[in-house]
Amino acid sequence: MNELEKEAIKILQNNWRNGFSIPCEGLYPFQWKWDSGFIAIGLAYFDMSKAKEEITTLLDAQWKNGFIPHIIFHNESDSYFPGPDYHHSDLHPKASKKYKSTGMTQPPVTGFVLEELYRISKDKKDILQYIETVIDKVYDNHHYFYNNRDILNEGLVYIYHNWESGTDNSPLWDDIFKTMNPPKYTFERRDTTHVDASQRPSKREYDHYLHIIEVAKEHHYNDQKIAELSPFLVQDPLFNSMLIKSNQSLIALYNLIGNNQEKVNQLKTWQEKSIHSFNKKLFSEKLGAYIHYDLRNKKPLEYISSSSFAPLFAGIPSKERASVLVKTLMQKFGKKNLYLCASFDPSSERYEPKKYWRGPVWINLNWILYKGLKQYNFENEAQRTKEDTITLVKKFGFYEYFDARKEKDNAGYGGLNFSWTAALIIDLLHEK
Ligand code: DGY
Repeated sequence: MNELEKEAIKILQNNWRNGFSIPCEGLYPFQWKWDSGFIAIGLAYFDMSKAKEEITTLLDAQWKNGFIPHIIFHNESDSYFPGPDYHHSDLHPKASKKYKSTGMTQPPVTGFVLEELYRISKDKKDILQYIETVIDKVYDNHHYFYNNRDILNEGLVYIYHNWESGTDNSPLWDDIFKTMNPPKYTFERRDTTHVDASQRPSKREYDHYLHIIEVAKEHHYNDQKIAELSPFLVQDPLFNSMLIKSNQSLIALYNLIGNNQEKVNQLKTWQEKSIHSFNKKLFSEKLGAYIHYDLRNKKPLEYISSSSFAPLFAGIPSKERASVLVKTLMQKFGKKNLYLCASFDPSSERYEPKKYWRGPVWINLNWILYKGLKQYNFENEAQRTKEDTITLVKKFGFYEYFDARKEKDNAGYGGLNFSWTAALIIDLLHEK
């Protein structure tokens, strides 16, 4: 076995707690929704029972309405802000009684993660038996999205917080934050005790993050009230791509299991509508890329980020549109002096190459990009993405994010021994 893979396995073993994985020691001491999905893919290569347990634990925290929270607070760590007492998930009448959590979610990756576990497993019968015990919960999660967050009935669901996007402090949100004027809250941050402040969001940005939660809490995390009142309400191409990809995986898995025609039909109906609206509403001809739509302020957010390319992974663009998209990718993000793929348009004045989601390369987005490029047979671009990803980790370590500029000597930023970086490197090393 390759040394890098051995190291990756060790990281995942160290970050395993009782029944779930933390993304990173100190900085992120609980279970995060989309992290847990990516982590399970890595675990599946050397310990399938842990991969299953990771997903089982996440789904155990599901609310009665199908909602799955973004953080599950399994323990009382005080190294993280805002913690369970701030989020107060029990304000929602259908929240889990067993677990404290946040009242927001993260990209719905669990559906396609189950299909990845099926792909990786050497015992197809065993993994399918496992999938059968959890798949309805993932279906219920999709049902929650389409029934509560598709307010225009077009197959595109909203996110109500930048933390729901996964791309927490992307410059995409700057325009929205300009429409808000939140109070200056008093709070003690913990993230900047673990990571250099120049690599994290600012205090003022946190005021905005907290304010959106305050509005949601005031209305007990009620979806209708949030849709009506949240200052942040966005249709995100990354989030919706994850949902669409996961729909597709649920259809494939239900077909393998058999006897679930009604659910398959429902998923196909959602799928068709979602893909149609996605292509109609979330593509900018001008930019040659998919973009976000700001529902609150009723306008497209005309910026290119690594989220713009996620639709390839979900099979959303036509072949012709995929070519346009890949041309944009290589022209803007694929220059010789840059590693693929910066999280925000490197030619934009808002690009900040060290700051979290305002520019750095993230391994999960690279993984999504790689798989998307492969599916559309962009072999060279896919190989470049894979090689850049492995080079970054080999050269600098299993960091949370990386500087895209090749001239940098120390390009690893944020948390070290980061779980999804380790997990997805394992998967990439197994790819041809
Ligand atoms: C953080 O605390 O920055 C987390 O990423 C939110 O999900």
